[in-house]
Amino acid sequence: MNKIIIGNWKMNKTVPESTVLVEKLKKDLSGIKKTTVVVCPPFTSLYLAAKELKETDIKLGAQNCYFEEKGAFTGEVSPLMLKGMCQYVILGHSERRIHLGETDKDIAKKTIAVLRNDMIPIVCVGDTLPENQGGFAKRAVISQIEAVLSVLTADDMKKVIFAYEPIWAISPNKPCDPRKAKQMIGYIRKAIPDFYLESLKGVMVLYGGSVDSYDCQDYLNLPEISGLLVGAASLDHQEFSSIIKKAEGKR
Ligand code: PGA
Repeated sequence: MNKIIIGNWKMNKTVPESTVLVEKLKKDLSGIKKTTVVVCPPFTSLYLAAKELKETDIKLGAQNCYFEEKGAFTGEVSPLMLKGMCQYVILGHSERRIHLGETDKDIAKKTIAVLRNDMIPIVCVGDTLPENQGGFAKRAVISQIEAVLSVLTADDMKKVIFAYEPIWAISPNKPCDPRKAKQMIGYIRKAIPDFYLESLKGVMVLYGGSVDSYDCQDYLNLPEISGLLVGAASLDHQEFSSIIKKAEGKR
């Protein structure tokens, strides 16, 4: 299967800076055919980025959204507002779980809301360092996965993307050994019950955590890893493009 590479800009780039980065990526990636490329700028840059990317193959994603479509929810952005502009929405990133108190329940509701608005949710799951060191990584990750699975139909499953992002491997920490990432991704795939059997083959599970253009091949070489969720290295057009060009050589 062709790989998917997603750039999560996090809380970086003003609107003018985003415009410059998108323009550079457009130039760098004009020849990319097989790899699905998604960039996820901050909310403030989405409208302009959507305009810039209109005639290109580069897809646009948001980094979060709320689960209601409109109403008295000061400061929130609804999936209805993103629909038409974005094709993807990152949900349940560990930084939101940790700093903003997002729960598994919130993330499940957001996943449904994104699907209802015809966008693809990228659901992030991951273990903390103490969980990892204590031997509870699998339990922690699988319980996050199960919380989302509990609200999905077999049809929904065909659209959802999961991303395994060990919290202890997100930059500036050290990346997770690709064999370890592969093992956890195997557990994630196994946790998807038979009910979804038809969609199982197609379920995409990405790896994220300190990937750059030097080590990306180690993950891309593994068929179990459907692609990468890239943070820091996606802020530099040369770095990000170089990762995508390496993915383009894989199947
Ligand atoms: P990183 O971020 O590549 O900077 O580690 C990945 C992520 O948190 O999505």
